[in-house]
Amino acid sequence: MIFKYNYNTMKQRISEKFHTLFNADGVFYASAGRINLIGEHTDYNGGFVFPGAIDKGIIAEIELNGTDKVNVYALDLDEYVEFGLNEEDKPVQGWAHYVFGVCREILKRGGKISGFNAVFAGDVPLGAGMSSSAALESTFAFALDDLFHLGFDKFELARIGQSTEHNYCGVNCGIMDQFASVFGKAGHLMRLDCRSMEFEYFPFDPGKYGYRLVLLNSCVKHELVGSPYNDRRASCERVAKVLGQEFLRGATMEQLDAIKDQISEEDYRRARYVIGEEKRVLDVCAALEAGDYETVGARMYETHWGMSKDYEVSCIELDYLAGIAHTCGVSGSRIMGGGFGGCTINLVKEELYNTFIEEAKTAFAARFGHEPVVIDVVISDGARKLE
Ligand code: GLA
Repeated sequence: MIFKYNYNTMKQRISEKFHTLFNADGVFYASAGRINLIGEHTDYNGGFVFPGAIDKGIIAEIELNGTDKVNVYALDLDEYVEFGLNEEDKPVQGWAHYVFGVCREILKRGGKISGFNAVFAGDVPLGAGMSSSAALESTFAFALDDLFHLGFDKFELARIGQSTEHNYCGVNCGIMDQFASVFGKAGHLMRLDCRSMEFEYFPFDPGKYGYRLVLLNSCVKHELVGSPYNDRRASCERVAKVLGQEFLRGATMEQLDAIKDQISEEDYRRARYVIGEEKRVLDVCAALEAGDYETVGARMYETHWGMSKDYEVSCIELDYLAGIAHTCGVSGSRIMGGGFGGCTINLVKEELYNTFIEEAKTAFAARFGHEPVVIDVVISDGARKLE
C-alpha cells in the first residue's frame, strides 16, 4: 500500500463530518509528519538534527464555539471527545491527550483560549516513527495561535508540542519532531542546532542526482510512551553530568574514554553512539552540498548499526531491512526516528529502486510473514492554514 496525502479527499470527509456534528463551517489547518535524514537521539543532547516535513500529515477543521468546552472528533478512529480546559479535565482517550495538552500548554504560557469544535484526520501511519503525534500537536498549536490571535512565534509553537509530550503523554522527547512539523518547507531539509536553536534550510532534491528516498515500514509498532526512550535520555544525561557538561554535545571520544571507569558499560556505549552521530550529521550536510550521495548513504548505515548495537533501539525486523538494503546495493539505509520499531529510511539509486522493493518485500515476508509497507515521501511544507 502506498499512502497518499490527498488533501481534497481528506478535507471533503472532514467537512462532511463537521457539518453533521456542528452544523457549521470551520477553518482548515494542516501540519506534517517528518523524516529525518540523519541525527537521531541527538536533539535532547543539544546536538544537530537534519529533518524535513513530509507530504503526510494531519488536517483539522476548527471553529470557536464561544463556550469553555472543547469538542473534538477523530475521524480516523471514529471517536468523539469533549473536555474542559482545566488541568483536572484531562480526557481518557490517548489521542485526545495531544489536543488537551496543547490547550493546557498554551494556557500555561498566558495564551487566552476558550472552547472550540474540531474534526481532524490524517495519513501519517501511526507508530511508524514519522511523528504523527507531532503533526497533531503542531496542527492544533498553529491553529489555536491563529484563531485566538495569540502571537506565539514558531519556536514557541514547537515547544508547546514538545511540552505536551513531556507533561501529558509521558515522552521526554527532544524538539526535532515538533520543529520539523512547524518549520517544514517543501523541497528542503533543515539542519537544526538543538543547543542554539539556529537552523538552516538545505535544498534537497535526490532525484536530480538519480536517487530516491523511500521508507519501509516494518509494521512493528513503535511506542515511545513509558518506553526505554526515556532511559536512553537518562543515560546521556548521566554521562554529561560526569563530564561536567550540560549536554553530551561537543564531548569527544577521548573525554568519554577518560571517564569510562566512572560510568556503566551501557551508558558508555550509548554516549559513544551519540558522539559518533554528531559528526555524521555534519558529514552528511557537507556531502549533500557536494552532491555526494554515496557518502550520505554510508553515514546512514553507520547510524543504523550504532543505533542497533550501541544505542540498542533497533529490533530484528529493522536490522533485517537494513541488511537487505545493503545486499541489494542500496546506498544508505537506517532506522528512522526514536527506534523500537517503525521504518527504515533508504537512499536508493533510481535504477535499483524496483529490484530493491521487490526483494525487500519477498525476503521480509518469507521471514516475518508479512510485507513491509512502502512509503514514498515528498519533502513538503509544515504547519499552515489551508485556503
Ligand atoms: C523521537 C523524539 C525526537 C528524537 C527522535 C530520535 O522521534 O520525539 O525528539 O529524539 O525520537 O532522534
